[in-house]
Amino acid sequence: MSLLAPSILAADLAHLGEELAACEEAGADRIHIDVMDNHFVPNLTMGPDLVAACRRSTPLFLEAHLMVERPDGLISRFGSAGADLITVHAEACPQLQGTVDLIRSAGASPGVGINPATPPASLADILPEISLALVMSVEPGFGGQPFISSTLDKIRGLRLLLNQRGLDCDIEVDGGVTPDNAADCLQAGATVLVAGTSVFKAEGGARAGVGCLLQAMGRGRARAER
Ligand code: DX5
Ligand code: ZN
Repeated sequence: MSLLAPSILAADLAHLGEELAACEEAGADRIHIDVMDNHFVPNLTMGPDLVAACRRSTPLFLEAHLMVERPDGLISRFGSAGADLITVHAEACPQLQGTVDLIRSAGASPGVGINPATPPASLADILPEISLALVMSVEPGFGGQPFISSTLDKIRGLRLLLNQRGLDCDIEVDGGVTPDNAADCLQAGATVLVAGTSVFKAEGGARAGVGCLLQAMGRGRARAER
């Protein structure tokens, strides 16, 4: 089963509740919340309060993507705010196993992400411990960038690693995902697609954006159901 996680980085935050409702009604599975600290990435965005606001306004599964240096001290706050899954970056965590344990103690499922320059093999040891491996398909920090096509090989590599070891872990692709490359990502072995610009800046808004992506993922709704 493939899942769609709209990233609210591209949403109209002045109308966040309506944007979330549109995603839910159109059939999105999760909400992806990009947390940036101006150290790991050159941008500053959302914190635990924003996660709590989402929690109050949607029943959808919430994933917090922490693009943050040494996130350990923040994890319990994201857990208390209602994040269902917390993803940290391998490059930002010198004691990754301990960080993953902290995420579990905070009541969330653990995810670990890698940047475009980080090889999938760097996740090999942690894969049995996590629910989701996030593959960045753009340099983290900003929405609206073009998809780096060599990411597809990384997804294939990661899928092979998981299959060889009989592990059940989601592979999430994040950055530049559009209706044009969604099927390629799934075919390479991804199970969760993050999409910001192609959802919230779509012609017709989030409802139309989610609809187009689900269609491209082979999950379009039949006309009669609309
Ligand atoms: C980038 C973020 C992404 C971003 C995706 O650092 O991790 O989640 O919001 O946005 P688009 O889909 O616009 O590339
Ligand atoms: Zn993200």
